[in-house]
Amino acid sequence: MGLVAAKEMLVKAKEGKYAVGQFNINNLEWTKSVLLTAQELSSPVILGVSEGAGKYMTGFKTVAAMVKAMMEELKITVPVALHLDHGTYEGCEKCIAAGFSSIMFDGSHYPIDENVEKTTALVKAAHENGMSIEAEVGSIGGEEDGVVGMGEIASPDECARITALGIDFLAAGIGNIHGVYPSNWKGLDFDALGKIAAATGGIPLVLHGGTGIPEDMIRTAISLGVAKINVNTECQLSFAAATRKYIEEGKDKAGKGFDPRKLLAPGAQAIRDTVKEKMELFGSVGKA
Ligand code: 13P
Repeated sequence: MGLVAAKEMLVKAKEGKYAVGQFNINNLEWTKSVLLTAQELSSPVILGVSEGAGKYMTGFKTVAAMVKAMMEELKITVPVALHLDHGTYEGCEKCIAAGFSSIMFDGSHYPIDENVEKTTALVKAAHENGMSIEAEVGSIGGEEDGVVGMGEIASPDECARITALGIDFLAAGIGNIHGVYPSNWKGLDFDALGKIAAATGGIPLVLHGGTGIPEDMIRTAISLGVAKINVNTECQLSFAAATRKYIEEGKDKAGKGFDPRKLLAPGAQAIRDTVKEKMELFGSVGKA
């Protein structure tokens, strides 16, 4: 199976009361680790690509070609969506042309009328190309790829307005932030999530900033309509810790331990372990 849009897997997840993980990818090792884990656990999966990561990998065309070829070579049969994360208008256009299967337009920093106007145009373009589209209301806090959000709570009215444009899933800020949560974080606002869910007629909701959210909060969020959870920083932290351990133990100096295939192996395994843990928590195992 080639890439699929994310709509169907998320509608199924919402109905089945579980969530599909979006794991952000940065390079070949990341992509391979996420795909192999999804296949091993028979779980649907969304590969997230930020604008910065796309640029790092030399462009969205490279990313799409790599993912498609890798799926074929690794014989991946679970549903996989390739999704632009926090896209600009231009980034969305590029990913549509490059052969992604899903986009997120992050118009949360525009005034709501402008967000509506741009989202409308991109809904049309995405659907004409058989792709799914996520939109955002109420910015997610923290810093990701240089984009700093204040972490506002989305207004249910604005969520309803954006949802009515025909988007496939909605990211709504409920106190979640990207990166590691500060010790004085107040937690997710479930009252706000309940109101947003009620105002948006059952559309699958997206929880950004999946790193470090306590397990009970993840379960409650899923019970209230969250069907997609984004995880990025946690894979980066586990990759870095495993790589550090390998080097600090001097393994890169023993034999041919400096061979990149050996040097990057513990980090790649650590990503697999993190992805597995998240898929088990989100309930997507066996749902492919
Ligand atoms: P974390 O880096 O906090 O896991 O957030 C990921 C995310 O929301 C990507 O959009």
